[in-house]
Amino acid sequence: MQTLNSILNHSHSGLRWLVLLFLLLAIVNAFTAKSFEKKHKMINLFALITVHLQLVIGLFQYFLSDKVKFIDGWMKNPLLRFYGMEHLVGMLIAIILITIGYSKAKRRENYTDKFKAIRIFYTLGLIIILLFIPWPFRSILGGGWF
Ligand code: HEM
Repeated sequence: MQTLNSILNHSHSGLRWLVLLFLLLAIVNAFTAKSFEKKHKMINLFALITVHLQLVIGLFQYFLSDKVKFIDGWMKNPLLRFYGMEHLVGMLIAIILITIGYSKAKRRENYTDKFKAIRIFYTLGLIIILLFIPWPFRSILGGGWF
């Protein structure tokens, strides 16, 4: 169980960089591109897939991690509250926003409307993700860079 937990932790931690990269690329495209091409669609899709992968891995970790424990007073403990509630709720909201953005962009006809949906929903999602990542400088949360 410890090995599985460690594999999941490293995948979840490393995958964050792909999430950030694809979201950033999708947003830059949405602000700069002059037509909606296949490569733009693929980057929007990769961003969607990587956040959904994080959700699946995260759900397993939620049940395996020793940072998620609903013991007496867990809400008063910053580490247990972060992983038991804040990280989960924040990331769920971000993933929902990104999913809405992707499907709106897919259904819209012209490229300005497609990119508008990505600009709004992916940017909001990215900001929320950045806020709820347990960055190493938030030392109490015990997160790493990879
Ligand atoms: C885009 C979405 C997400 C990103 C970018 C993300 C990123 C991260 C990062 C960077 C860590 C720290 C890993 C480390 O340094 O050890 C982490 C830990 C964790 N995440 Fe996520 N996460 C996301 C979504 C979720 C979701 C939706 C859940 C729950 C369903 C979740 C559950 C966890 C848990 C339980 C840990 C602690 C694991 C441990 O150290 O034992 N994550 N996450």
